[in-house]
Amino acid sequence: MEIKISNISKLDWSGGALALGFLADNVELSEELKQLDQKLGDTISELINETEFTGKVGTTAIARVGGKNSLRKIILVGLGKLEDLTLDSFRRAGGSIARVAKQAKIKTLAIALNSNDYENEILAQVISEGVILALHEDKRFKSDPEDTKIRIETIELLDLPADNKAIDTAKKITSGVILARELVNAPANAINPITMTETVEQIATEYGLELTILEQEDCERLGMGAFLGVAKASDLPPKFLHLVYKPQGTPKRKLAIVGKGLTFDSGGLNLKVSGSGIETMKMDMGGAAATFGAAKSIAQLKPNVEIHFISAVTENMISGKAMHPGDILTASNGKTIEVNNTDAEGRLTLADALVYADKLGVDAIVDLATLTGACIVALGNDIAGLWTTDNLLATQLQTCAQTAGEKFWQMPLESKYFDQMKSSIADMKNTGSRAGGSITAALFLQQFVKDTPWVHLDIAGPVWAEKPTAIDNEGGTGFAVRTLVNWALND
Ligand code: BES
Ligand code: MG
Ligand code: ZN
Repeated sequence: MEIKISNISKLDWSGGALALGFLADNVELSEELKQLDQKLGDTISELINETEFTGKVGTTAIARVGGKNSLRKIILVGLGKLEDLTLDSFRRAGGSIARVAKQAKIKTLAIALNSNDYENEILAQVISEGVILALHEDKRFKSDPEDTKIRIETIELLDLPADNKAIDTAKKITSGVILARELVNAPANAINPITMTETVEQIATEYGLELTILEQEDCERLGMGAFLGVAKASDLPPKFLHLVYKPQGTPKRKLAIVGKGLTFDSGGLNLKVSGSGIETMKMDMGGAAATFGAAKSIAQLKPNVEIHFISAVTENMISGKAMHPGDILTASNGKTIEVNNTDAEGRLTLADALVYADKLGVDAIVDLATLTGACIVALGNDIAGLWTTDNLLATQLQTCAQTAGEKFWQMPLESKYFDQMKSSIADMKNTGSRAGGSITAALFLQQFVKDTPWVHLDIAGPVWAEKPTAIDNEGGTGFAVRTLVNWALND
């Protein structure tokens, strides 16, 4: 499929389908559209009337143009209310149009969306992102992927005199989002610490990034007792991955991105019971998936910042070698942890990963983790939690998230709640009470970052979609990749 900028006018374009966007409650035809409508024998106005099309966000309508017109179909998409219009409205509109066009077996599609509020380049980019993400399907595990013969071959963006570079950027960004989705979708018998490492090795080779792989012995030497405690019961070796992107010149800043990389979380001896979501715990490497997805995009986009991509990858399993509830672990900064719940394993692996990242002398650290069910209870499936020791960094990330169309809500690092994790025998326990569970998890992580500005993102909800949306399909969403890429580009 090819996406390109075209300077052909809507009136002259010919092909499979032309898609037009309308704001809610303002479904009036401009002079140009009136002319087009006339040329098409009233197809547009009749489609609006017959489907009671109001331009409500996410709604679409499609009609066949009668006669022998060289434009065969018209697609309408609702952009929603003007006051709610954001850049992401255009990303989602692109996705909705692509879905309708695919369903209608369109081969050549033109999308005519523009706006006075945003520059053509960024509009072309986000519409392309929406199209690519909506059309991505993960059929790797189907024996018969039922490929349709008729597919969208070309998409032309009309009314957006921009450079094709915008489309190139969209391709680079979505390649990272798609990698993250595929890592999350892959079950634990496909993506495990070894195959995850192979995937990251491929990124390193393809884009010329430095990769350090710390094996179990290396982690032992560094005193990563928290990470290794979690890894103990797995039959597969733990892998600590450190991938580095360095720009050509002197970097403006040095950043670290740390992702939770549990390729499966059984809960350990505090085993997850049936119905607790154990069957979806292949998604517990969603933080690592976003981290390495972002690495893939960033390596292609080449911003002038140095970025360290880190994950302590393992499974949380059960066996005679498993850590016991009550065990005391020593993390690589010397702090001791009484494991009162083996299912709070993500924070243990992140503890050592954060200590490692902190020693790199970076200007900022962002960690991403499918850390707590409590965060889903607090914010639902579409919004990630954000905790920080540096409000400026949080504000920067929020700006990046907004353009990315990803939602984060800042939560308190309420230090008083740390009392819940006081241990009589070690420096701390790894869990507090049920109340405020995502906050105590963040407070636990804070123990492993010294002075580096730090943001913790709990992405347990948004990494996975139960139902398709305009741009996501059911399953892994690749959440946070776009925000991280924006952070790298805008920092
Ligand atoms: N991986 C889970 C969190 C999770 C839950 C991610 C649902 C995605 C969807 C994490 O390791 C976990 O088990 N957390 C526990 C913490 C508790 C034991 C304090 C939880 O949320 O129940
Ligand atoms: Mg767990
Ligand atoms: Zn987990």
